Amino acid sequence: MKVLGIESSCDECSAAVVEDGKRILSNVVATQIPFHAVYDGVVPEIASRKHTEWIARVVKEVLETAGEAPDGIDGVAATARPGLLGSLLVGLSFAKAFAWARDLPFIAVDHMLAHLYAANLTENDPDYPFLGLLVSGGHTIICRVDGFDAVTVLGTTIDDAVGEAFDKVSKYYGFGYPGGAYIDRLAVKGDPAAFRFPLPNLHKGEHRYDVSYSGLKTAVINQLEQFRRKDGPRGPAEVTPENIAASFQKTAVDILLRSVFRAAEDTGLTTVVAGGGVAANSYLRSALAERKDLRCIFPPLDLCGDNGAMIAGLGYQYLKRGDRSPLSETASARVRG
Ligand code: KG4
Ligand code: ZN
Repeated sequence: MKVLGIESSCDECSAAVVEDGKRILSNVVATQIPFHAVYDGVVPEIASRKHTEWIARVVKEVLETAGEAPDGIDGVAATARPGLLGSLLVGLSFAKAFAWARDLPFIAVDHMLAHLYAANLTENDPDYPFLGLLVSGGHTIICRVDGFDAVTVLGTTIDDAVGEAFDKVSKYYGFGYPGGAYIDRLAVKGDPAAFRFPLPNLHKGEHRYDVSYSGLKTAVINQLEQFRRKDGPRGPAEVTPENIAASFQKTAVDILLRSVFRAAEDTGLTTVVAGGGVAANSYLRSALAERKDLRCIFPPLDLCGDNGAMIAGLGYQYLKRGDRSPLSETASARVRG
């Protein structure tokens, strides 16, 4: 079964054709980053306009590179939530029209469940149950996963998402947008022990697996303020972009790992599947790989960020089970409550 997947929740306009939830025949990701970088962040109005301009061309290109005429497609999947409402509506409406015009089964899917599915596109399917680590620009979720659509949230962020913290620190220091990849690259040349930034004190009761990034973000920003005012304890030799990036990145990832390891110990689950843009982070990948008692599965780098292949892959699982979404299905900015 060949499924066309369409993703337009944020600043990537993407479509893919995936066979049987596994084999990527084509995956086209048209990034809008240059249009948003001048504003140091995603501008929702620009995002939805670009999706409107690009979506038909992206789908045409993906069908051509997959070697498929529209008639070769057996089902259509699109992201319906969570994300920027205007952007979601473009991809979702296009997908519904495509399915309706060809009388194809249609399914609306959740973007975060699709990130979790991304690893299945290249790896053997992990056995359920496992721990999921969903880390993106908008979400930070540690969950127990019992099936492709059976997720129990164990912990989440009580303030900023981890990717958002990377983006805000990067913006403040003028490293570039989106911040994660810039900080990751700078950090390679820095000393992660140059600065000790605080870890949040969240390990009890209902917050046992939760994370927080506002304290870290403030501490990193204060560091630069002190340096600019010249009243901080550190001199210019230590306050290099590389040292700041490496120390921030280590703390940001250690915050995640503390919760993941705690959840693994408490639940006895030994497989961790990561997904989302921050799953591309080199320190996160190497630190998790060091835990020999855990099997850690990451999507390949090009499938960590937003892409149509993960939507098509997850969509296939629903369609195979016989699930269909009505064409009245609409978009939602939030995860389903
Ligand atoms: O999943 P994604 O592409 O979009 C959302 O669903 O939000 O994630 C984007 C986020 C951004 O915050 C970006 O800075 C972050 O992923 N990111 C990274 C890296 N690459 C992208 N964060 C840390 N290290 C990276 N290498
Ligand atoms: Zn995403």
